[in-house]
Amino acid sequence: MKYEWDESIKIGYPEIDEQHRQLFAAFNEFLDACGEGRGHSEIVKTMEFLSEYVIKHFMDEERIQKENGYPDYHQHKRYHEECKIMVISLKSNFLREGPTAAVISRIQSSIGDWLLNHIKIEDMKIGEYIRARERLYKEIQLRQALKNGAGQPLTSG
Ligand SMILES: [Fe+2]
Repeated sequence: MKYEWDESIKIGYPEIDEQHRQLFAAFNEFLDACGEGRGHSEIVKTMEFLSEYVIKHFMDEERIQKENGYPDYHQHKRYHEECKIMVISLKSNFLREGPTAAVISRIQSSIGDWLLNHIKIEDMKIGEYIRARERLYKEIQLRQALKNGAGQPLTSG
């Protein structure tokens, strides 16, 4: 099964959404390389790219959470750490055993499904939090503007 990014897993933060799209593209590239029976070094390259991209993405996502004061940052980072351990272990399985059906299906059901689930549940919360925070800031700004302009006469009419 291939993983397609679509609107249903859009978290509403463009930088993260774009990376999720790339993540699935990298995952599919790996699956294609295995499915098409490309050469060993070619398949290994796609696996290397995928695992490096997972790590880069987690780092960027954690930075965005910090920048926005996301309150569940530590828990979220723990989930990322668990996934990284899983990726490292599956990658070494893969390098040892090669692209066997069992290894590929384990990678698919572990990394692919994990990512999809994580985006749907945990990353979605980041998007919701950032949007709520932006709404609050706008409200504060509006109140401040109204307060500052409160003493002035109305110009309309
Ligand atoms: Fe995440």
